[in-house]
Amino acid sequence: MTESNDNMDVSESQIASHWREEEVIEPKAGFVAQANMSDPAVFDRFGLDNFPEYFREYADLLSWDQDWHTTLDTSNPPFFNWFLGGKLNASYNCVDRHLAEAKNKAAFIWVAEPEDEGDRVITYQELYVRVNEFAALLRDFCGLKAGDRVTLHMPMIPELPVAMLACARLGVVHSQVFGGFSGNACGDRIVDSESHVLITMDSYYRNGKLLDHKVKADEAVAQAEKGGVKVDKVLVWERFPGKYSSPTPMVEGRDYIVDDLLKDFRGKRVDPVSMPAEAPLFLMYTSGTTAKPKGCQHSTGGYLSYVAGTSKYYQDIHPEDVYWCFADIGWITGHSYIVYGPLSVQATSVLYEGVPTFPDPGRPWRIAERLGVNIFHTAPTTIRMLRKSGPDEPQKYDYHFKHMTTVGEPIEPEVWRWYHEVVGKNEAVIVDTWWQTETGGFIGTTLPGLQAMKPGSCGPGALGIYPVILDEDGNEVEPGSGKAGNICISNPWPGFMQTIYGDPDRFVETYFAKYNKNPNSKDWRDWPYMTGDGAMQAADGYFRIVGRIDDVINVAGHRLGTKELESAALTVEAIGEAAAVPAYDELKGRVPEIYVSLKPGYSVDDDIEGQVKRAISQIIGPIARPSHVWVAEDLPKTRSGKIMRRVIAAVSNFMDVGDTTTLANPEVVEEVRLMVQSAKVKAGQVPPNLPKEVQAELMRFGEES
Ligand code: WTA
Repeated sequence: MTESNDNMDVSESQIASHWREEEVIEPKAGFVAQANMSDPAVFDRFGLDNFPEYFREYADLLSWDQDWHTTLDTSNPPFFNWFLGGKLNASYNCVDRHLAEAKNKAAFIWVAEPEDEGDRVITYQELYVRVNEFAALLRDFCGLKAGDRVTLHMPMIPELPVAMLACARLGVVHSQVFGGFSGNACGDRIVDSESHVLITMDSYYRNGKLLDHKVKADEAVAQAEKGGVKVDKVLVWERFPGKYSSPTPMVEGRDYIVDDLLKDFRGKRVDPVSMPAEAPLFLMYTSGTTAKPKGCQHSTGGYLSYVAGTSKYYQDIHPEDVYWCFADIGWITGHSYIVYGPLSVQATSVLYEGVPTFPDPGRPWRIAERLGVNIFHTAPTTIRMLRKSGPDEPQKYDYHFKHMTTVGEPIEPEVWRWYHEVVGKNEAVIVDTWWQTETGGFIGTTLPGLQAMKPGSCGPGALGIYPVILDEDGNEVEPGSGKAGNICISNPWPGFMQTIYGDPDRFVETYFAKYNKNPNSKDWRDWPYMTGDGAMQAADGYFRIVGRIDDVINVAGHRLGTKELESAALTVEAIGEAAAVPAYDELKGRVPEIYVSLKPGYSVDDDIEGQVKRAISQIIGPIARPSHVWVAEDLPKTRSGKIMRRVIAAVSNFMDVGDTTTLANPEVVEEVRLMVQSAKVKAGQVPPNLPKEVQAELMRFGEES
């Protein structure tokens, strides 16, 4: 048995004593000279005295069909409306308005995973033509109109933004489900959004293999039907146009090859539908504390203004740059910072189909060199993976980044430094962008031409965003106090979601109930938004995000709910009880581990581990696959019968389990600990001594499941 990590009582003051301040690094003069925002007067303009009018500066980056009369409508908190009375169309703003000046400029350069397949370059003119033709198809063949919802389940292929923009052109609300999610997960989202059309693809490349994707559409439609929603039409794009590349047959009368249908819509143009600013643009589902994912609903005017402004000033995109956001459009990062933000500021964006290390860890740097990428954007998971598998690869290639982003998880200072020194060749600025599906765009980060970088800290609030750390009683935790707390945003902003689709009560309950003191108040000051993250603030105002405080596990930048994992595990006949906890992982940040106890009559010999792993992959998707499934006689429980997730998280991570004497079955803890830790020791999977704030995050479960 190895030593468990010592003194495990992770009080906030201990976290503080562990927290080492990192050095501050100023951006290079060359970057500052060309930055879209280098005038410090911007901080005065975005001072709270000018709230909410300061967000006009973002909205003015767009072309409006009709001006708004009310910048912020607070009549029904916390459902805030921005730019009320204004009208616009998102597809017009991302495409049409650039034609006069830049129709021949590349909007997207798509790079296939197989390295010998040529790129596809899509100019703004071509994007315009394709969006129009597909919009005509959606309108005339599918009968879709403004306000209808459509589910997309597509991989990283240019047809995905084409489909999104075609929906936006009609005012149709798209709901793109991450391509790696299972057909079942897609089906549940079809039901929740009541979509009758599914847009998908036959196949795509991942890690050298052509995957059958169409099979997931059949599963999704079947799952939706169980939930009472009938999908009338499945539109299937082909990975190789003209050549259907899936072994799964098309279903007569339901499935249609898009390119066949498009023949009837060649040259068709569709007038962009002028939408009210508060009309929903899309839904993006994300995990929360219950098993049911939340459909975050984003608006047209507020959202688009916010992503346009942050793309221009934080991503520092100029029309002549080559911008590569290495994320999947199936997540909010791709919606905001591959599609809507960059296109609204006339960017040229790289889209890459596959995995970072295919066929070797030099691939991203070859792409960057060949295409002249100068802005690079990715997640700590990808950075860790590339650092581990090819630490010296970047220097072999002649590319030069002026700007790099990190997003989605806390980044360890050592990893940050590798990103800065090796990937960025000490030339690029780094912006660490803290935000969420709910927030639409960045909320904590640095303005790259004006604010210094600090490894491991995202920075202060973004322009116009005023974060505050609150303790359990709602008192403000002072900057520099060294204490962690719940980070909230004290004011509304245009990029924030409008509601949880179909469940406004859950929206209020999840994000506002804890800190709102007066539910009848019409004053926005009474409605701080609770992000669900724990954070600390240094004396200089920079935030360090320590991780989720709720039942969400952030696996390689993907949010998974512990309840979602547990209910998937419980679909296995033999499983009596299940609990999911996060375990530390060097590359992915966190990975889920599942603890189960069995119903009478079953034993470990029934391939419990395999069954649970398969069930989770099938129900949620391979990203949710647990690293371990531990089968125990019984799980540690409180006297009231709740499973102590905190205790098993401590076991998985070799941390102190604390006082277990008040449990109903304290003896179980030692049995489980022996089983898990000796197996991990044997397999060489003992985690390193974890920093205190990481320990606190791993054992954060306030309530037991
Ligand atoms: C985490 C992704 C630290 C955080 C855009 C948040 C981060 C969750 C950062 C949202 C960052 C995101 N530093 N943690 N820069 N960015 N997170 O909804 O816990 O997929 O609540 O949105 O990721 O994940 P989501």
